[in-house]
Amino acid sequence: MPATAEPTHDVVVLGGGSGGYACALRAAELGLSAALVEKDLLGGTCLHRGCIPTKALLHAAEVADSAREAIRFGVRATLEGVDLPGVTAYREGVVSRLHKGLQGLVSSRKVDYVQGEGRLEGERTVVVGDRRLVGRHVVLATGSYARTLPGLELGGPIMTSDGALALTEVPKSVIVLGGGVIGVEFASVMRSFGADVTIVEALPRLVAAEDPAVSTALERAFKKRGIALRTGARFESATPTENGVTVRLEGGDELSADVLLVAVGRGPSTAGLGFEDAGVSIERGFVITDERCRTSVDGVYAVGDIVPGLQLAHRGFAQGIFVAEDIAGLDPMPLVESSIPRVTYCEPEIASVGLTQAQATEQYGDRVETYEYNLGGNGKSQILRTQGFVKLVRVKDGPVVGVHMVGSRMGEQIGEAQLIVSWEAHAEDVAALLHAHPTQNEALGEAHLALAGKPLHAHN
Ligand code: NAI
Repeated sequence: MPATAEPTHDVVVLGGGSGGYACALRAAELGLSAALVEKDLLGGTCLHRGCIPTKALLHAAEVADSAREAIRFGVRATLEGVDLPGVTAYREGVVSRLHKGLQGLVSSRKVDYVQGEGRLEGERTVVVGDRRLVGRHVVLATGSYARTLPGLELGGPIMTSDGALALTEVPKSVIVLGGGVIGVEFASVMRSFGADVTIVEALPRLVAAEDPAVSTALERAFKKRGIALRTGARFESATPTENGVTVRLEGGDELSADVLLVAVGRGPSTAGLGFEDAGVSIERGFVITDERCRTSVDGVYAVGDIVPGLQLAHRGFAQGIFVAEDIAGLDPMPLVESSIPRVTYCEPEIASVGLTQAQATEQYGDRVETYEYNLGGNGKSQILRTQGFVKLVRVKDGPVVGVHMVGSRMGEQIGEAQLIVSWEAHAEDVAALLHAHPTQNEALGEAHLALAGKPLHAHN
């Protein structure tokens, strides 16, 4: 390994997505000199291909549903159709405003923004074109890409979420391969936009990482929306046809549609960037770190989707900020993975934090208690005409360790749920606090009231 040259920066961050830019911004705020290397667009997957554009799509989907279902609220309106270029213009407007804001932030904090593809070359050195950036510390934050399956070639009617964002008209029919987070979000959008949708999922249930009660509620709601489900069905092959694609499942069943949307997970973008040559430990493409985000190479950290764990933007932000503070000597507390909030923005939404009932039972045995509050008793949910529940998982005479919610707009309730789990609140602590009436937030309050033995609009 070549001898370390004189550092050019305190921190060199490779990758300008959520994890990388958060790290560079916080480092600069703490008075460190920071370089941020990005080959594509500042903001990464979340801003340009992930969270933001897809949630804009989901909002347009909600508007379409509102128009379609207006008469249920006594309002006469008709949905004439969805103008996908119009939706794209709205979506791109949102992304572009946020992108400009972020660029302004990076330049006003005096982060040295380096446009180009960087490679780790030797000790704490990132090479970008003819520039050599030598960091006292280097942070790897190169993110992830949409995976496909062996033998399943992308192109034409077979696409990942990236391709789905480039569609110019709503397909008549879509097969979604994978009933995980991306699969159910896109299935939800496409159904609201009027497509016939079938989800093919190898596991026995949708969103298999969630509590099974959540999967059951989602499956029921999706079926009611006319989304066809093929759970426990393994994909075998896909063949483009004259007007679309034919998918063969193991066992011989065949399905045909205009488009096949592949949502079988995201892989870490770590290949060909010099990580392994520099001595960074990699397992199945992921960078291995300790709980302080340190890789196997002294002074080299990794954050975000390349580190095994939940691939979520807010985890990337938190890790990036953590690393900057660690480098600045603030001795921050490592992130607790189990208290990272999770929201899936399909209709109905799913929001959860902490342990599922099964995970809690594994940890606490028969000391685990659960309570399920049905949104049927929640005024605002009835006004919205949504169904769902808040499920609490707690340790008997102890803290609430998991909150699981389903229902339209319930994603917005994750904030309080996260505080409850992270602060290890007891049901009695939450029951003593007021929740505004009539809000969906009240459902959280009522669930805790019931668990504390004093239900108001619920049965004990
Ligand atoms: P995922 O891991 O959530 O789901 C992939 C699904 O595909 C799994 O259920 C898996 O069983 C299924 N699958 C795999 N191979 C299969 C086969 N051969 N046949 C049938 N089914 C098969 O991955 P996904 O949905 O692609 O999302 C990637 C990442 O992006 C996730 O970690 C997710 O957390 C993140 N993300 C988060 C969002 C949010 O927080 N709202 C939104 C979108 C993505």
